[in-house]
Amino acid sequence: MRKPFIAGNWKMNTDAAGAAALASGLVKALAEVTTVDVAVCPPFVYLQTVAKALDGSAIQLGAQDVYFQNNGAFTGEISCAMLKDVCCKYVIVGHSERRHIIGESDELINKKAAAVIASGLHVILCVGELLEEREAGKTKTVVAEQVKKGLAGVTAEQMKSVTIAYEPVWAIGTGRNATPEQAQEVHAMIRGLLAELYGNAVAGQTRIQYGGSAKPANTAELMANPDVDGLLVGGASLKVEDFAAMVKTVA
Ligand code: PGA
Repeated sequence: MRKPFIAGNWKMNTDAAGAAALASGLVKALAEVTTVDVAVCPPFVYLQTVAKALDGSAIQLGAQDVYFQNNGAFTGEISCAMLKDVCCKYVIVGHSERRHIIGESDELINKKAAAVIASGLHVILCVGELLEEREAGKTKTVVAEQVKKGLAGVTAEQMKSVTIAYEPVWAIGTGRNATPEQAQEVHAMIRGLLAELYGNAVAGQTRIQYGGSAKPANTAELMANPDVDGLLVGGASLKVEDFAAMVKTVA
């Protein structure tokens, strides 16, 4: 069975003291939890601070992005080796804010995903449709395309290093989450696509998170879906109380 996986995406939030306090608070609040994989993804500059606060706990560290080259003249970028060096285990790739605000393409996202996997880190590949795409009935086509392009060249064996996060763009940070039915429909489609691409065994073992206004009040109903294996949480991951409540609901 797939172990539930809840990750907090802190985005461009917190400061050094706040990041340390949030991480320490979660360590304390979630000390007894063993049945859910938990990760937090702070801004790059606080990774080491948070790593220190998480030391000895089961909560894992993740990064919000990465560049696909190993090192060299890439001003402002961060490599997988650097993330490993500061104890990261996970890397979010293809988040909708990077696709739609920064302008990342599926091709770039694919290179990043491949680099993360090759480095031995675990990738959380985000996909999701815009509101106008949903209204035009294009949700499945858009999401399937993002999954296929994001995973281009990734082998069945490498899929153990992959989590998919379905995050409808219209639900991110809006307070308007997808209904459990809407989430399940797309998650089932993604799992079907993974079965086509990699076979049933890989499809059955790959975790698919939901993201987009996930909060304590909707955690149980979203997680009750057979193909929702976890959550990628933005806003609600910034409060110890909320994020811990979500993890405990799932546990
Ligand atoms: P949200 O963000 O929970 O604040 O909607 C989710 C995400 O962008 O990962």
